[in-house]
Amino acid sequence: MIFGKRNIAGQGDGVLSCDGGGDSGEGHHGSVQEGMRLSLSGREGKSLQDAESIVEKRKSWYTYIHRQGKRERALEIIMGHAHDDKSISSVRSFVYDMLGPAPDRGDLLYRYEHSLRAAENAAVVAEAEGLPKDDLIIACLLHDVGYRECRDDFRRHPFFSADISKSYLEKIGYPPEALREMVKGIALHNLTDDLPKDMTVFQISVRDCDDIDRFDMIRTAMLLGDCVNEKTNQEIIASCSQAIDSANWIMSLPRGTRTAQDMINENCRKRIAFLQDILAQANKGL
Ligand SMILES: [Fe+2]
Repeated sequence: MIFGKRNIAGQGDGVLSCDGGGDSGEGHHGSVQEGMRLSLSGREGKSLQDAESIVEKRKSWYTYIHRQGKRERALEIIMGHAHDDKSISSVRSFVYDMLGPAPDRGDLLYRYEHSLRAAENAAVVAEAEGLPKDDLIIACLLHDVGYRECRDDFRRHPFFSADISKSYLEKIGYPPEALREMVKGIALHNLTDDLPKDMTVFQISVRDCDDIDRFDMIRTAMLLGDCVNEKTNQEIIASCSQAIDSANWIMSLPRGTRTAQDMINENCRKRIAFLQDILAQANKGL
């Protein structure tokens, strides 16, 4: 199976993104270390040293989930899917159960549908680039599977998602080599341009397929609403300008494949065109 040596399309200068609450967060950035610190500290107030020692002792993120009393729900659902047949439809059903959308949790229904769209992007990228198609589709389906478990601490969701995915994929007997690639891609899917040197094209593609959807029309429509709702012309100009900078920055980031780069650029250019039209209208009032 070919997961691809490092062959990055594009360049950048070193930050880590987090989706943030509601997945609107193009604005949250930090280092990998910061990501780990955030993931292990927070409510229990642990230092970075404490966090690293926890990792070294191989007390997994899952152990951390357990400390907060969240493990049982995830384990119960994984056990309920123990006999899944490794098919895409089974994984979809597992992701739905893990996210557990409810009438009062429209954000999790959004998360589920976002995961389906990321998986559709994966099919396109894998097909064009010769990556293992089902593995990439399944990794993208699973990439946000820990969203409910991390509750309001969304910065940690890649690690929760990776741990839950690992447990699930092991339980259903997924081939180990593919499983390792998928879990690493999920754990690192929020990185932007400070990518580990050994990160493979497959692993980077998980995050690329996520980003393609994060900058596609639904998210662009959500962003445009945020940029203008109940805002003055000056505020609209400021928020649109910031969003244009963000889209330009996203296009500058390294990508795993040319196909993903092209898809993201197309989405970002569309977004920028809308934002520039709004800017022009807001400027009429000055
Ligand atoms: Fe995510």
